[in-house]
Amino acid sequence: MPRPSPFDLVRDALRRVEAQFLEDTVSTVSGITEIGQYLHAGGGKRVRPALVLLAAALCGVEGPGVIALATVVEMIHAATLIHDDVIDGAETRRGRPSTNFRWGTQKCVLAGDWLYMQAFKVALQLRHFGILDELITLTQAMVEGELLQQEMTGRVVTREQHLELIERKTARLFSVSCKLAAMLGGLGDDIIARLGAYGHHLGLAFQMVDDLLDLTASAAQLGKPVGNDLREGKMTLACLDAYAAASAEGRAHFECVLRERGYRSVAFDEIQALLAASGALTRARLEARQHAERARELILLFPPSPYRDALEDLPLLMVERAS
Ligand code: FPP
Ligand code: MG
Repeated sequence: MPRPSPFDLVRDALRRVEAQFLEDTVSTVSGITEIGQYLHAGGGKRVRPALVLLAAALCGVEGPGVIALATVVEMIHAATLIHDDVIDGAETRRGRPSTNFRWGTQKCVLAGDWLYMQAFKVALQLRHFGILDELITLTQAMVEGELLQQEMTGRVVTREQHLELIERKTARLFSVSCKLAAMLGGLGDDIIARLGAYGHHLGLAFQMVDDLLDLTASAAQLGKPVGNDLREGKMTLACLDAYAAASAEGRAHFECVLRERGYRSVAFDEIQALLAASGALTRARLEARQHAERARELILLFPPSPYRDALEDLPLLMVERAS
């Protein structure tokens, strides 16, 4: 019999997370509620709450605290997206007008702040200092990452700089999502560390594929324009690799897009041709698969269960996804 999808396995609990999210993001000031819930209603894979729920079930941790933690990570994620779209001046997100495009910068900065604090308020109810410490460290690491990103925007950075960035902006939240329920349940440090490492590698694989899709998928699949990262001045793994392998003329093409923040003098097709010719897309996909495989190996150290199966399947699903 085929295995259920990891999301189907925790479908009921995910519904409870949705309900708690809607309940906990209501402010007496309606604009805040609208902004948070608009972004949430626009879709999203709910990967982070699913990770909390699957890791909890894997460790035998249950109860309302687990649903609260899954809601907290989704709220933190939503808050980062609201702020990120303000910072990037994005016009679309998940195929719809971005929150800043609809409500303007000022309201979105404040709504994002409120949502962050609300996430911490929900987490505080668990009265677990270790969890609060983890969430604060995570948030600071993401803010620092965003600042580092700004310094790197428009520049050809090193591979290491880029990897640090994707660790901060994506892998850290994945890693924390995997650890939280085990922390709540008082499991051993080795188990918590292993779950964290699983989430770290899964998060890196996820972001590497996200960055590849930006270069290879259609706008309809992405829900935003293609080639958007370069347009925003961000050189991702495959671009850095293709740049290193390119002739002076090829390098000048990348530099031109970064400088112009768009595809005016150099078409996106020309960038795609450079990427394909250098083999950079294939190498970046391989690197994403290697992280997915490392995550899989780490989860296989746990005793067999349907939840372990789901966490084993998730890395491959993430790297083979088309949107
Ligand atoms: C998306 O990157 C960015 C993130 C997931 C992290 C954003 C983090 C912040 C804005 C800092 C958090 C702020 C506070 C106040 C805690 P992207 O722009 O490459 O991806 P995209 O294509 O989804 O926009
Ligand atoms: Mg962005």
